[in-house]
Amino acid sequence: MTRQLKFNQNGQFTILQVADAQDLPFPRKAMLDMLDAAYEKINPDLILFTGDNILGNHLLDARFGTKKIGSGKELTRQRMKKALAVILDPPEQRRIPFAMTFGNHDDMNLLTKAEQLELYRAYDQFVFSDEDTPVGNYTVPIWSSNGEKKLFNLWLLDTAWHDKETDRCHTGVTKEEVDWYVARSNELKAENGGQPLPSLLFQHIPFPEIRRLMLECKPGDKGAVRYAKDKAVRLDPAKATGRQCEPGFGYQENNGQFDAIKAQGDVCAAVFSHHHINNFDGVVDGVRVIQSPGASFRCYGNTGRGVRVFVLNEAAPAAFHTYTLTYFDLCGHSPIKLLRYAVQADIGLF
Ligand SMILES: [Fe+2]
Repeated sequence: MTRQLKFNQNGQFTILQVADAQDLPFPRKAMLDMLDAAYEKINPDLILFTGDNILGNHLLDARFGTKKIGSGKELTRQRMKKALAVILDPPEQRRIPFAMTFGNHDDMNLLTKAEQLELYRAYDQFVFSDEDTPVGNYTVPIWSSNGEKKLFNLWLLDTAWHDKETDRCHTGVTKEEVDWYVARSNELKAENGGQPLPSLLFQHIPFPEIRRLMLECKPGDKGAVRYAKDKAVRLDPAKATGRQCEPGFGYQENNGQFDAIKAQGDVCAAVFSHHHINNFDGVVDGVRVIQSPGASFRCYGNTGRGVRVFVLNEAAPAAFHTYTLTYFDLCGHSPIKLLRYAVQADIGLF
């Protein structure tokens, strides 16, 4: 539903980003404990599920490898509804507004994105825009505490889709999406007295320019992540801080998204998911680039499984503060929590 999100009476607005929650209808208790603890501790004003919210290709009637494992759109819809309930029921019950964007896994099944969005729209707390946009792309404005003025904007962009006719999957931001972003950004600028409206941009798969945060190195070098037999990269300490455990280069077909963002000057940071075991924060050619860790315990990960928090301040919203909280930060290090982590994390501990 369209609703007005506002800075609270303390002049703050807190966003909790949950990336790659993809546990399907059979969630690991560790992930649910972690998310519950995050909602309790942070009490966010908005939760953002930034793609791969479900493993849409592991629903019935979806591909499993190269094989179809079921049939029937209605059956797929029912399975998807059940899978979404795992992550959407808790914020609904806590009455915390949430928004979402699609990831590469969400769409790999018979339901169109518009049909999938209908399942999200059934939740009272789902924040959506009624703007006429390319499906899966929208803006979420954050208004001043007195409700008089838009002070900040969130961009939610789609980076992955499944062509149902050819049964092929694509990743990236299309030319149509870049054009929509530029046009909408200009409208928001005009509404804001000619000044770019400060914003955060969230999308599942990074733009390719993220690679500029990395240096080529040898596979044996400190911090090196191998991406080919004799090739590796590591974070450039002059440009980024954090942890890189997989290459995470971003989508391949470049339609000028980065250049458009740079030219518009409204994005305070572009925030990405998809690469579960990377967690860093850097600047590429004046554009801040943030990679967030994954939350799923049924997919690959490491001890960095967690969530990211953004705290905006009404007096200076562009100067936001961000940090991540891991399972251990939120649930503690007691022997039982360590044991639960070790048993429930399907792939990768370190
Ligand atoms: Fe993904």
